[in-house]
Amino acid sequence: MKYINDKTINCPVSKIGLGVARFGTKVDKELSFQMLDCFVKEGGTLLDTARNYYEWAENGRGKSETCVGKWIEDRGNRDKICIVTKGGVKNEGNTFYCNLKKDNLYSELKQSLEALRTDYIDIYLLHRDQPDCSEEEIIDTMQYIAEQGKIGKIGVANWSINRIKKANIYARKHSLKEFSVIQTWWSLAEYTDSMWNDSTTTHMDKETYNYIKENSYIGMAYTSQCKGFFQKAIENGLDNIDEFLKKRIVTPTNLKKLDHIKKYCKKNEVTATAYMNSYITSNEANGVALVSTSKLQQLQDILSTSDYCLPQEELRNIDNVI
Ligand SMILES: NC(=O)c1ccc[n+]([C@@H]2O[C@H](COP(=O)([O-])OP(=O)(O)OC[C@H]3O[C@@H](n4cnc5c(N)ncnc54)[C@H](OP(=O)(O)O)[C@@H]3O)[C@@H](O)[C@H]2O)c1
Repeated sequence: MKYINDKTINCPVSKIGLGVARFGTKVDKELSFQMLDCFVKEGGTLLDTARNYYEWAENGRGKSETCVGKWIEDRGNRDKICIVTKGGVKNEGNTFYCNLKKDNLYSELKQSLEALRTDYIDIYLLHRDQPDCSEEEIIDTMQYIAEQGKIGKIGVANWSINRIKKANIYARKHSLKEFSVIQTWWSLAEYTDSMWNDSTTTHMDKETYNYIKENSYIGMAYTSQCKGFFQKAIENGLDNIDEFLKKRIVTPTNLKKLDHIKKYCKKNEVTATAYMNSYITSNEANGVALVSTSKLQQLQDILSTSDYCLPQEELRNIDNVI
């Protein structure tokens, strides 16, 4: 396992982060606990959850945090875990309602702490942006909460780079906490709007990447496995990929990338999973690959090659496949 050593976080931060969104709902408690145990056994420390996970399941809001909280309490390992949770949104179906006002964030954070059975969150992210709330107001709120000792690093998910920069200029000018963790869709695949079908999400671009790198922030990649598309296409053949996944990911460029990865993996005797993860974790910017799996075996596959380092030249090669 590769780690980020950040003095502001109590434990080393594993560069593979376990996405636990569906734990406690779509993934039952037993399998969730098995996956969590497997993850820490192989050196994992970072868990990614959110207040609204998994609002898409019946009565699902808060269930992911609750499941993780129970596991941490049961295993007594809070000091070895880096908790990432997110707040500020409520969902109805795929519609996100954002509320980044102080009262709401404070009340959501209290609920997160209760569910997670802890008194602090290592990394607290604002899950979406509320454009009519000023950067100044939001940074002041986060600073206030941090000063209560309830959160460590702060960051955002799915914010435009312009807004992040503006907020951080204000924070720096007034010596306040900066958004130093940026979570976005990031994988080796070419991104297209139809992949996610949600205009409230963002994806990694050159400007965001350079901003993370130059400031030594953390770039947190969701959908880093591209939903398993490359692994499944290599293992089972493109014809056997389910139509939904195909519709989302198949583009001429992604097919060329598939061909390139297949050849590289064969020649270098590495798995497509190692390649996928290393694309994020070997990056010159501090990259954390968030992964989620429906089967324990998939998680074992990911963790068994978590040390793998793609040469920098190969990172450039895959980016140049267009
Ligand atoms: N902030 C945000 O807005 C946001 C948005 C999305 C996700 N996230 C976070 O990121 C985490 C991961 O997101 P994600 O689920 O979209 O990403 P993902 O890891 O790209 O996709 C997960 C799916 O990929 C397949 N897969 C995973 N490992 C595999 C392997 N070794 N071999 C073959 N297939 C494999 C599985 O599909 P099958 O089950 O079909 O086999 C699995 O369900 C979430 O849990 C959440 O914490 C955040």
